[in-house]
Amino acid sequence: MLLGVNIDHIATIRQARGTHYPSVVKAALDAEKAGADSITLHLREDRRHMQDQDLYELKPLLTTKMNLELAPTDEMIKIALDVKPQDVCLVPERREERTTEGGLDIVKNYNSIKDACDRLAAGGIRVSLFIAPNIKHIEKVIMMNVPVIEIHTGHYANLQDKKPRLEELTNIENAVNFSHEAGLIINAGHGLHYNNVKEIVKIKNIEELNIGHSIVAEALFVGWKRAIKDMKKIIMENTPK
Ligand code: PXP
Repeated sequence: MLLGVNIDHIATIRQARGTHYPSVVKAALDAEKAGADSITLHLREDRRHMQDQDLYELKPLLTTKMNLELAPTDEMIKIALDVKPQDVCLVPERREERTTEGGLDIVKNYNSIKDACDRLAAGGIRVSLFIAPNIKHIEKVIMMNVPVIEIHTGHYANLQDKKPRLEELTNIENAVNFSHEAGLIINAGHGLHYNNVKEIVKIKNIEELNIGHSIVAEALFVGWKRAIKDMKKIIMENTPK
């Protein structure tokens, strides 16, 4: 299982003061040196962390790949087609939310999401859809002919009690099995931390985990590269053979 490191919150710290540091380029290149398999970033409509210029600076320098998270809007699709990241993950976005709170409502917004996927695919970008572990939604992804999904693990990560947590893990596992049988590539992420990631890593057929906030937080105490290496170690030690 691979690790995509989300560097949004390096930019959050920079934007808090409007400085040029910490450098998102240094964060991305050091993350690659520490073992990140891809670099994930989210250009939000309100530009609260990543700025347009960051994408243009990072794209030619990355030696792994760029996974760009975007809302499926006309503005964002035009930017993606210009920057040409290897991957785009379409996510829902609400200005008032602190972070991406749920998966795409692919049932309600089928036509507009399909249109966004087709435009990105025509530009040579591999498209992924961020969705809840819900079979009805996965059936719609299969109809759309999109190659990749990212399963939202945020609900699992927020649950403290054992029973609902295990139920959500089962939901995730069922969603992964169903998607894998349909030939989809499956990623997962959101809210994953050093102490809750192991159960997700143990699920077979997940290709990549995208993790950001917990790694940035851990880096305050152990350093950026160490924080990435420690997460990578947990993933490598627990990935099913
Ligand atoms: N995957 C997606 C699609 C996301 O939107 C985010 C948050 O930007 C993440 C993964 C990473 O979540 P976290 O920062 O909680 O690790």
